[in-house]
Amino acid sequence: MENNIWWRNAVIYQIYPRSFADSNADGLGDLPGITGRLDYLADLGIDAIWLSPFYPTPDKDFGYDISDYCNVDPRFGTLADFDTLVAESHRRGIRVILDMVMNHTSDQHPWFMESRANRDNPKRDWYIWRDTPNNWEACFGGRAWEYDPSSGQYYLHLFTREQPDVNWRNPEVRKAQLEAFRFWLERGADGFRLDVFNAYFKHPDFPDNPPRFGLRGFDRQKHIYDMDQPEMIPLLNELRTLLDSYPDRYAVGETYLGSAQKAASYCGADKLHAAFSFDFTSADVSVLMSGLLYSWKPRWIMQKVQERDRIFDAAGVWPTTVMSNHDLPRAVSRYSRGEEDGMAKIIMTILLTLRGTPFLYQGEEIAMRETPLEHSEIVDPPGRKYWPIYKGRDGCRTPMQWDDSPHAGFSSVTPWLHVHPNYRQRNVAAQQADPASMLNFTKALIALRKSHPALQDGDFLPVAATRHILAYLRRNETGAILIAMNFSRRPRTLTLPATLHPRERLLTSAQGTLPPSGQALPLAPREACLWLC
Ligand code: GLC
Repeated sequence: MENNIWWRNAVIYQIYPRSFADSNADGLGDLPGITGRLDYLADLGIDAIWLSPFYPTPDKDFGYDISDYCNVDPRFGTLADFDTLVAESHRRGIRVILDMVMNHTSDQHPWFMESRANRDNPKRDWYIWRDTPNNWEACFGGRAWEYDPSSGQYYLHLFTREQPDVNWRNPEVRKAQLEAFRFWLERGADGFRLDVFNAYFKHPDFPDNPPRFGLRGFDRQKHIYDMDQPEMIPLLNELRTLLDSYPDRYAVGETYLGSAQKAASYCGADKLHAAFSFDFTSADVSVLMSGLLYSWKPRWIMQKVQERDRIFDAAGVWPTTVMSNHDLPRAVSRYSRGEEDGMAKIIMTILLTLRGTPFLYQGEEIAMRETPLEHSEIVDPPGRKYWPIYKGRDGCRTPMQWDDSPHAGFSSVTPWLHVHPNYRQRNVAAQQADPASMLNFTKALIALRKSHPALQDGDFLPVAATRHILAYLRRNETGAILIAMNFSRRPRTLTLPATLHPRERLLTSAQGTLPPSGQALPLAPREACLWLC
């Protein structure tokens, strides 16, 4: 496995641009807003930012429906603003990763406008048109095929009907898409996050997907013909050759409906550098939606970590760790209630001390909570469709909470989604001033990850996974670090193996905790701590 490569050891911070910082008082965040906050990010200690889409978009899926791959939506700024953002990021040692949404475009993309104009249009074959639909379902609800009365055919859309899937089998499409990558590489992008990349190719014969047990239409099918086709691998080879023609570039794929096995299979020296396996989120999302179980338990986590690491190790590739992103209910709200941050610190500790590249989602460092929204406030298409069974993704996309001024310092006007009402207490400024805050804890963890190589590339060795305690070691030739967490609200004791001797406490989320006595390490309620051994 390649060692000491920036992205392996990096902490990557996801920015959802429209909710990060609004510099021009229109209620939407923008690129200059991000540039204005780079010092904050540098101080946090992150190595790279991943920007969710900022390209021109009619906003049917809030930027994930792109109408021009090679531009900036005027509401988010200009190409010159992008250049400034890249230059200023680089000046601070922060790399910039862009979100490439290339499974589909917006239906307002000129390519699709031409394609739908008539059956003989040279761009007709740039999208997927058929006389008769098959049984495929759209992820956001309903059939995946939309009838176009003027040309009398159906086009495919795996997401909303305003997001037609492009035909990656057409060589001109392939060329045009790779050119878009090149455009941003030339402008200084350090890498890409590939949106639903494993759905680019569909089976050429469009067979019906077989049924499976599931809650929604989309879940009630096995997705074997609408994604993960073998043609993806040669395309990744080609993309990797392009990336490797520039120094130090990186690509991480969003493996749609991906297991660790599947994600790992797309990574390697001639494929993607990394692919999300969502080990700590996906099980819980379905659990959460059906409201059945609460699986955020030490044993479950330990099992997930070991399973993931075994699969990625066997493939000789490096995993990623994700707890939250713009598609999921924030982890702290999935796994805890109320405003107390004990569980948030446990989640952050796991995120930043496992093997694999951690991805932090904006606001996670201050433990922003999922924002409760009324039905009338929901703008996210699947949320509107499935309310109240599924409330959509707006709750994790509300504005960043910078300070206690109106609109949380995000904007001087009413933002596109309202700010979480807890912003008066929960905000960056307040937490900067509090040594025991989530923010300072996160900063300390990132700094430890940087200064202790065992936390980057060290082996993962399980120590305990009981009803209440999760503990493991990260160890390499430079040393060993014990990470111990008490999930319960009562004090507990971790009994250490005889060979383990904690020498120095590097960090704890609790106050006034006791030192170890013999092989007994006392843990305060909800404590997360790191010890040098
Ligand atoms: C990915 C994105 C999500 C988007 C979808 C369609 O899953 O993360 O936000 O809605 O793709 O582009």
